[in-house]
Amino acid sequence: MGEERLLNPVQRAEDLDNENVLRPRRLEEFVGQPELRENLGIFLQAARERQEPLDHVLFAGPPGLGKTTLAAIIASEMGTNLKVTSGPILDRPSDLAGMLTNLQHGDVLFIDEIHRLNRTVEEYLYPAMEDFSIDILLESGPSARSVHLPLPRFTLVGATTRTGMLTSPLRDRFGLTFRLDPYKPQEIETIARRTSTILGFVLEPEAALLLGRRCRGTPRVVNRVVRRCRDVAQVTRKDSIDPGVVEKTLSILGLDSLGLDEMDRRILSTLLERFEGGPLGLSTLSAALNEEQDTIEEVYEPYLIQLGMLARTPRGRVATPAAARHLGLSAKPFQEGLFA
Ligand SMILES: Nc1ncnc2c1ncn2[C@@H]1O[C@H](COP(=O)(O)OP(=O)(O)OP(=O)(O)O)[C@@H](O)[C@H]1O
Ligand SMILES: [Mg+2]
Repeated sequence: MGEERLLNPVQRAEDLDNENVLRPRRLEEFVGQPELRENLGIFLQAARERQEPLDHVLFAGPPGLGKTTLAAIIASEMGTNLKVTSGPILDRPSDLAGMLTNLQHGDVLFIDEIHRLNRTVEEYLYPAMEDFSIDILLESGPSARSVHLPLPRFTLVGATTRTGMLTSPLRDRFGLTFRLDPYKPQEIETIARRTSTILGFVLEPEAALLLGRRCRGTPRVVNRVVRRCRDVAQVTRKDSIDPGVVEKTLSILGLDSLGLDEMDRRILSTLLERFEGGPLGLSTLSAALNEEQDTIEEVYEPYLIQLGMLARTPRGRVATPAAARHLGLSAKPFQEGLFA
């Protein structure tokens, strides 16, 4: 997709600069995911009214849909502190113990990429989540003894892009689990308008409409595209972002008329051109694309499925006739039958 991988989870300096201004702080500012918003709102209110910390929460879903944002919203709605760490950083149980013993009553401990916790640390987390206590080993060798330490009641918020990689003992210890799916065009359009207002430039209504459909249903993508639109508008001496600016920017970034990026199209064209549209097992698809199975499954497929371009069947992945039409390829007759 040109030089800029829009889905790259590695955050750029520019993103981090903007992240703080663009991130919704309250639940009511959070656009889209209506069911999640309503349910989370109920549980937040109940916990607040009882003056108890919220139960542990797990957010699962593709990159850039708002998991980190929601963790921060929980802390601000509960009026507590947010402590942030991530699975790969917590190398040893003592790293986790350090975080846990520094918490105050009601604090939110956010563990990003929680599927990447190593086994030892994960098992150390169980009693902390369940009984709000840990055992700390003092000294080593023959004089070693362990001390049982009570912890303050806290809320663990975990985020994962890979639900499949979470062990079930860990998953079961979350009282609340929310799955985030790609956003609807109208919601992305709303986010585009919100972002341009915050960043202080004019986004024409027609341009916002275009952005809604063509940013992969992903808030992080639309925010990045809006910033690139601003660059294009500036260089082409326009004082607002109009549809022409959006078209130009999207073509530079390699997002097509439905918001598919290069990898999305490669998945579909591989299925259609090399495997007659499928069904094709995920492992074969992964080998053909030279891309990891769970990246395909958890980063790319949700949007393709939402658009009705790809289906998961018991026998494997299938590219639909809609995908064939979109790419200007012919669908196999038996598949027209499958999806009639
Ligand atoms: N519902 C929303 N409304 C408005 N802006 C949003 C929403 N969700 C996310 N954003 C914006 O999109 C950006 C990416 O969101 P966030 O960092 O929370 O995603 P994430 O799910 O944690 O991604 P990753 O899996 O890569 O960590 C944020 O900067 C935020 O400004
Ligand atoms: Mg995040």
